[in-house]
Amino acid sequence: MNIQSFQPMNLGDAHLDREHAELFRLVGALFDASSSEAVAALDSLRTEMREHFGREDADLRRLGGNNAECHLDEHAAVLKSLDEVHLILGETATTPATAQRLVSSLSLELLHWLPEHVSEMDANLAAVRSKARFGGVPMTLLRRKPGA
Ligand SMILES: [Fe+2]
Ligand SMILES: [Fe+2]
Repeated sequence: MNIQSFQPMNLGDAHLDREHAELFRLVGALFDASSSEAVAALDSLRTEMREHFGREDADLRRLGGNNAECHLDEHAAVLKSLDEVHLILGETATTPATAQRLVSSLSLELLHWLPEHVSEMDANLAAVRSKARFGGVPMTLLRRKPGA
Protein backbone atom coordinates (compact mmCIF):
# COMPACT_ATOMS: atom_id res chain seq x y z
CA MET A 1 0.00 0.00 0.00
CA ASN A 2 1.30 3.45 -0.88
CA ILE A 3 0.84 5.38 2.34
CA GLN A 4 1.88 8.67 0.72
CA SER A 5 -1.71 9.00 -0.50
CA PHE A 6 -2.72 9.49 3.17
CA GLN A 7 -0.39 12.48 3.64
CA PRO A 8 -2.24 15.25 5.52
CA MET A 9 -2.88 18.53 3.69
CA ASN A 10 -0.72 21.58 4.37
CA LEU A 11 -2.58 24.27 6.27
CA GLY A 12 -0.30 27.21 5.50
CA ASP A 13 0.79 27.28 9.16
CA ALA A 14 4.48 26.32 9.02
CA HIS A 15 4.60 25.13 12.63
CA LEU A 16 1.53 22.88 12.42
CA ASP A 17 2.48 21.62 8.95
CA ARG A 18 5.95 20.59 10.15
CA GLU A 19 4.52 18.76 13.17
CA HIS A 20 1.84 17.00 11.10
CA ALA A 21 4.49 15.84 8.61
CA GLU A 22 6.46 14.37 11.52
CA LEU A 23 3.35 12.63 12.93
CA PHE A 24 2.65 11.19 9.49
CA ARG A 25 6.24 9.93 9.24
CA LEU A 26 5.93 8.24 12.66
CA VAL A 27 2.57 6.62 11.79
CA GLY A 28 4.24 5.31 8.61
CA ALA A 29 7.12 3.93 10.69
CA LEU A 30 4.59 2.19 12.97
CA PHE A 31 2.82 0.76 9.92
CA ASP A 32 6.15 -0.64 8.63
CA ALA A 33 7.37 -1.87 12.05
CA SER A 34 8.03 -5.57 12.63
CA SER A 35 6.69 -7.07 15.89
CA SER A 36 10.12 -6.55 17.50
CA GLU A 37 10.15 -2.87 16.46
CA ALA A 38 6.52 -2.16 17.36
CA VAL A 39 6.96 -0.99 20.97
CA ALA A 40 9.73 1.48 20.08
CA ALA A 41 7.78 2.79 17.07
CA LEU A 42 4.63 3.18 19.18
CA ASP A 43 6.56 4.95 21.95
CA SER A 44 8.04 7.46 19.49
CA LEU A 45 4.59 8.17 18.09
CA ARG A 46 3.00 8.50 21.57
CA THR A 47 5.66 10.97 22.68
CA GLU A 48 5.31 13.11 19.57
CA MET A 49 1.50 13.00 19.59
CA ARG A 50 1.32 13.86 23.28
CA GLU A 51 3.57 16.90 22.73
CA HIS A 52 1.79 18.01 19.56
CA PHE A 53 -1.69 17.62 21.08
CA GLY A 54 -0.49 19.40 24.24
CA ARG A 55 0.53 22.45 22.17
CA GLU A 56 -2.73 22.41 20.18
CA ASP A 57 -4.77 21.93 23.37
CA ALA A 58 -3.13 25.00 24.93
CA ASP A 59 -4.07 27.06 21.84
CA LEU A 60 -7.61 25.65 21.83
CA ARG A 61 -8.11 26.59 25.49
CA ARG A 62 -6.58 30.04 24.94
CA LEU A 63 -8.19 30.91 21.59
CA GLY A 64 -11.37 28.84 21.52
CA GLY A 65 -12.89 28.69 18.05
CA ASN A 66 -15.46 26.38 16.46
CA ASN A 67 -15.49 22.83 17.78
CA ALA A 68 -12.75 23.49 20.36
CA GLU A 69 -14.36 21.01 22.79
CA CYS A 70 -14.71 18.29 20.10
CA HIS A 71 -11.13 18.91 19.07
CA LEU A 72 -9.87 18.48 22.65
CA ASP A 73 -11.97 15.32 23.07
CA GLU A 74 -10.61 13.82 19.85
CA HIS A 75 -7.01 14.34 20.95
CA ALA A 76 -7.77 12.71 24.31
CA ALA A 77 -9.49 9.73 22.63
CA VAL A 78 -6.53 9.10 20.32
CA LEU A 79 -4.02 9.27 23.18
CA LYS A 80 -6.21 6.85 25.15
CA SER A 81 -6.16 4.36 22.25
CA LEU A 82 -2.38 4.63 21.95
CA ASP A 83 -2.01 4.06 25.70
CA GLU A 84 -4.30 1.01 25.56
CA VAL A 85 -2.31 -0.57 22.73
CA HIS A 86 0.92 0.24 24.56
CA LEU A 87 -0.40 -1.57 27.64
CA ILE A 88 -1.38 -4.67 25.66
CA LEU A 89 1.99 -4.78 23.90
CA GLY A 90 3.68 -4.79 27.31
CA GLU A 91 1.69 -7.80 28.59
CA THR A 92 3.62 -11.08 28.65
CA ALA A 93 0.59 -12.94 27.27
CA THR A 94 0.67 -10.88 24.04
CA THR A 95 2.18 -12.98 21.25
CA PRO A 96 4.27 -11.37 18.46
CA ALA A 97 1.45 -12.20 16.02
CA THR A 98 -1.13 -10.41 18.17
CA ALA A 99 1.21 -7.44 18.61
CA GLN A 100 1.75 -7.25 14.86
CA ARG A 101 -2.01 -7.42 14.15
CA LEU A 102 -2.78 -4.78 16.75
CA VAL A 103 -0.10 -2.37 15.56
CA SER A 104 -1.09 -2.88 11.96
CA SER A 105 -4.75 -2.09 12.60
CA LEU A 106 -3.89 0.90 14.83
CA SER A 107 -1.55 2.42 12.23
CA LEU A 108 -4.13 1.90 9.47
CA GLU A 109 -6.77 3.67 11.56
CA LEU A 110 -4.35 6.53 12.22
CA LEU A 111 -3.48 6.79 8.52
CA HIS A 112 -7.17 7.41 7.85
CA TRP A 113 -7.74 9.56 10.92
CA LEU A 114 -4.80 11.97 10.67
CA PRO A 115 -5.56 13.62 7.29
CA GLU A 116 -9.24 13.90 8.22
CA HIS A 117 -8.46 15.47 11.58
CA VAL A 118 -5.99 17.91 10.02
CA SER A 119 -8.33 19.05 7.26
CA GLU A 120 -11.40 19.31 9.49
CA MET A 121 -10.23 20.31 12.97
CA ASP A 122 -6.65 21.54 12.72
CA ALA A 123 -7.54 23.72 9.70
CA ASN A 124 -9.97 25.53 11.95
CA LEU A 125 -7.33 25.97 14.64
CA ALA A 126 -4.82 27.24 12.04
CA ALA A 127 -7.36 29.86 10.95
CA VAL A 128 -7.96 30.97 14.56
CA ARG A 129 -4.18 31.07 15.27
CA SER A 130 -3.57 33.13 12.16
CA LYS A 131 -6.43 35.49 12.92
CA ALA A 132 -5.11 36.01 16.45
CA ARG A 133 -1.62 36.78 15.10
CA PHE A 134 -2.27 38.69 11.88
CA GLY A 135 -5.99 39.40 11.76
CA GLY A 136 -6.51 37.08 8.76
CA VAL A 137 -6.56 33.39 7.76
CA PRO A 138 -3.57 31.61 6.12
CA MET A 139 -3.75 31.10 2.35
CA THR A 140 -2.76 27.83 0.73
CA LEU A 141 -1.81 28.19 -2.93
CA LEU A 142 -2.49 25.20 -5.14
CA ARG A 143 -1.06 24.74 -8.64
CA ARG A 144 -3.91 24.24 -11.10
CA LYS A 145 -3.63 21.05 -13.13
CA PRO A 146 -3.43 21.63 -16.90
CA GLY A 147 -6.91 21.32 -18.43
CA ALA A 148 -8.62 21.64 -15.02
FE1 LIG B 1 -2.64 18.63 14.71
FE1 LIG C 1 -5.67 18.55 16.38
